[in-house]
Amino acid sequence: MADPTQSNADQLAFWNGPGGHTWVARQQHTDISLAPVSQALLALAAPRAGERVLDIGCGCGAITLELARAVGPTGHVAAVDISAPMLAEGKARAEAAGIANVDWMQADAATAALDGFDLLTSSFGVMFFGDPVAAFAHIRRAASPGARMAFVCWRPLTENPWMEVPMRAVAPHVPPRPKANPQAPGMFAFADAQRVSDVLTAAGWAPPRLDKLDLDLDIAAGRGLEEAVVQSTQIGVVNSWLRGQPAEVVTAAVASIREALAAHVDGASVRLPGAMWLVSSAAA
Ligand SMILES: C[S@@+](CC[C@H](N)C(=O)[O-])C[C@H]1O[C@@H](n2cnc3c(N)ncnc32)[C@H](O)[C@@H]1O
Repeated sequence: MADPTQSNADQLAFWNGPGGHTWVARQQHTDISLAPVSQALLALAAPRAGERVLDIGCGCGAITLELARAVGPTGHVAAVDISAPMLAEGKARAEAAGIANVDWMQADAATAALDGFDLLTSSFGVMFFGDPVAAFAHIRRAASPGARMAFVCWRPLTENPWMEVPMRAVAPHVPPRPKANPQAPGMFAFADAQRVSDVLTAAGWAPPRLDKLDLDLDIAAGRGLEEAVVQSTQIGVVNSWLRGQPAEVVTAAVASIREALAAHVDGASVRLPGAMWLVSSAAA
């Protein structure tokens, strides 16, 4: 395992730096592309009026606002994230929508002072812990007896052409990269079902249920091919590969992405398969 302290520091820097600012800028687009995922997660979580919910790695509030509406004025949502810019965006959206039952907390969910939650959720926010067993054990202690947990995470890259197709298009343009450790903190850290199960049970959660969620994701968010190209260069691995590359390399890589995505145009949408785990468990 990589040094957890160093990887936590790296995550803090990324989500408060380029990663967080890009997510804020792309929030509307990303929320549209991932709307069917959010709906599936909310259906799994089934928040009820009056519940106290912890939304882990809430970002700009993709599901937080819906959770807050569902639990209503007698319920409450603690929205925890390490990213100041993303929390600020979430808070601004909540204020604009007149939603007042959310606490926006800038904190590491692996160590924050948290207590008494009936429901714990996360939309793609639990794959970044340096020490996942310790993090989920800490989160377990924040759960009330009988609390439910529901989160969504990505299955492997090879099952996610929405990301793999742009990566394959860019790869010939950039220097070769060392093979990534599949369990290193990052978007695919929970791709392996057995690992997710092992982490959660070692952390004191009931053996989880993992259901496959397969959806064609519109990476154009209904705004056409060029928008899909921009999104592919801004979010995820391609963005880090292209950062700091000479302008001519970026131009050539973008042209290759456009060519690769053109095959998936469907009217104003650009649809490619996405593969996720819907994970549910309970405080054991
Ligand atoms: C991929 S984004 C998902 C954001 C949002 N939930 C969504 O679905 O749009 C991952 C989020 O997890 C947050 N995050 C990463 N590590 C965290 C930690 N240890 N504690 C709390 N949040 C964390 C990041 O700051 C980021 O907002």
